[in-house]
Amino acid sequence: MLFQVYVVFVSFVLGLLRGVSAGKYNVQDTYIGGSFYDGFNAQAGDDPTGGRVNYVDTPTARRLNLTYASSNTFILRADFTSVLRPNGPGRNSVRLLSNKQYGTSVVVADIRHIPQGCGTWPAFWTVGNPWPQQGEIDIVEGINDQGANLATLHTSPGCTQPPRRPQTGSPVSSDCNSAVNSNQGCAVKSTQPNSYGPGFNANGGGWYAMERTSTRISIWFWPRGSNPPRNVANGEKGIDTSTWGTPMAVFVNDSCDISSKFGRHNIVINLTFCGWAGDPRLYSAAGCPSTCVDHVNNSPSSFVNSYWNFASLRVYV
Ligand SMILES: *[C@@H]1O[C@H](CO)[C@@H](O)[C@H](O)[C@H]1NC(C)=O
Ligand SMILES: *[C@@H]1O[C@H](CO)[C@@H](O)[C@H](O)[C@H]1NC(C)=O
Ligand SMILES: *[C@@H]1O[C@H](CO)[C@@H](O)[C@H](O)[C@H]1NC(C)=O
Repeated sequence: MLFQVYVVFVSFVLGLLRGVSAGKYNVQDTYIGGSFYDGFNAQAGDDPTGGRVNYVDTPTARRLNLTYASSNTFILRADFTSVLRPNGPGRNSVRLLSNKQYGTSVVVADIRHIPQGCGTWPAFWTVGNPWPQQGEIDIVEGINDQGANLATLHTSPGCTQPPRRPQTGSPVSSDCNSAVNSNQGCAVKSTQPNSYGPGFNANGGGWYAMERTSTRISIWFWPRGSNPPRNVANGEKGIDTSTWGTPMAVFVNDSCDISSKFGRHNIVINLTFCGWAGDPRLYSAAGCPSTCVDHVNNSPSSFVNSYWNFASLRVYV
């Protein structure tokens, strides 16, 4: 009895301490090389957003070498050899969904390469079910090799973001509601040209991290060769986000009830073609050839660099 009282007391004190030291987390799941196959599954089918893609299932992805794992590398890529029939399915690619869902947590990814090429639309993100009631957090996203990374929230109505927040990126749009502004969401554009696409890849990639608390969502980026926090660079078991400095993007609770707009999320890594990237205005503004669909159908070798390379992905709670 006395012992039980003692245990309750100790866990109460530990709870208080944890409250005081907000920002400290311990690793729960580590995905490196082949363990991506334990934690993620490929979702076959068409792109719900109308991309020129054919998402294959896990056995097909492995057989076609569209996913590939070694001891320290996980690759996810699109087909780069087939010419497509105009009326047939889109380009083979992979959309991975984590088996687990996470609530308040920190996701840290060491990424060596982001898919590049005209018409490509890769994303590394988290999403709840149903959408948009449970929210979507886009950590890495871009199109057509254009500029720097875009970090975005998509929610149900009633979540907006103030223009001035403690972040290094530039706010692009303020209403996170997926039903307005063509589902632009509330986006923040990085000011670092090496945060996405060819600039990111030429620099050997870098680290992305996303922290969810009940009142705040933060996204950090550290390019390779910069000085990331030691616990990030070394993949340590314990991290402390309070020492990480100003994030690239922060989404605050002021006019958005973060805890009710975001439920438990799966992690998604996807790679689609056209869709948003194929918007004729954006596609030609990027200096891309022909039309997006025609390029994706007829120029397989243009997609040889359309792959993700993950060194590691860790989730801390
Ligand atoms: C791929 O990722 C982006 C992330 O924002 C998303 O909008 C798009 O719907 C995704 N497509 C698929 C088919 O998963
Ligand atoms: C499979 O993909 C990996 C990584 O892209 C590559 O190193 C390997 O050579 C490929 N294997 C075959 C048989 O093409
Ligand atoms: C978060 O924001 C919502 C709506 O703006 C508000 O009702 C709620 O009290 C806030 N929560 C905290 C912990 O500040």
